[in-house]
Amino acid sequence: MGTKRHFRVWRGDSSGGEIQDFDVEVNEGEVVLDIIHRLQATQTPDLACRWNCKAGKCGSCSMEINGMPRLGCMTRMSTFEENETVTITPLRTFPVIRDLVTDVSYNYEKARETPAFAPPPGVKPGDYRMQQVDVERSQEFRKCIECYLCQNTCHVIRDHEDNKNAFSGPRFFIRAAELDMHPLDAKTDRKEYAKEHQGLGYCNITKCCTEVCPEHIKITDNAIIPMKERVVDRRYDPLVWLGRKIFRR
Ligand code: SF4
Ligand code: F3S
Ligand code: FES
Repeated sequence: MGTKRHFRVWRGDSSGGEIQDFDVEVNEGEVVLDIIHRLQATQTPDLACRWNCKAGKCGSCSMEINGMPRLGCMTRMSTFEENETVTITPLRTFPVIRDLVTDVSYNYEKARETPAFAPPPGVKPGDYRMQQVDVERSQEFRKCIECYLCQNTCHVIRDHEDNKNAFSGPRFFIRAAELDMHPLDAKTDRKEYAKEHQGLGYCNITKCCTEVCPEHIKITDNAIIPMKERVVDRRYDPLVWLGRKIFRR
């Protein structure tokens, strides 16, 4: 038998809503998503919450817990004080659909806008053997689970809705960095594209995206800062990028 704990949960839809109070049983080893499931089973069967894997791998259960962007399934109840009220609210940067479910389609639009990986024409499957060193360089970025906590946190869009059109956000800066490191992605100059079309210049390196990433991807240090630096470099040597792509092959 667990102990009763106090929770506050935002309920509502696009027309508005309110924080509601609940007392819910909490057992040893449980995470916030367990509590939401218990609420649904006992007090609020219509509480909307997106989730899928309950293992920190699908990126669905993104929410704000005591104001911090977190995955509900990876936030242990033991991280809170015994008498601490736990407040659960939807991601603030994206429009609410209902309760804890937000419309994250902004991110899918930005994904569609990002030019796809494009190897040189004529390269057939099996023609090219990628070096292990090239596989490892971008491995960190491929750990992304697309939870969009970094997108939700970045003040460039969190506090300025009107920037959404021009700013792709940290998740898509790491995608650009990943493709930039790919020796066969020679069609698009990813750094130049990030600067000209993804709004890289809006980022003022606050690192909030890195702090909330559940995969511990060093978004700012390993993707954004190197891309910013090399964009500046190429001002003085525009053949650097082309040469690097050609000679790595
Ligand atoms: Fe989530 Fe990290 Fe990917 Fe951003 S970079 S979407 S925080 S896993
Ligand atoms: Fe935003 Fe991350 Fe830059 S939070 S401002 S993209 S360092
Ligand atoms: Fe999949 Fe939380 S339910 S990451």
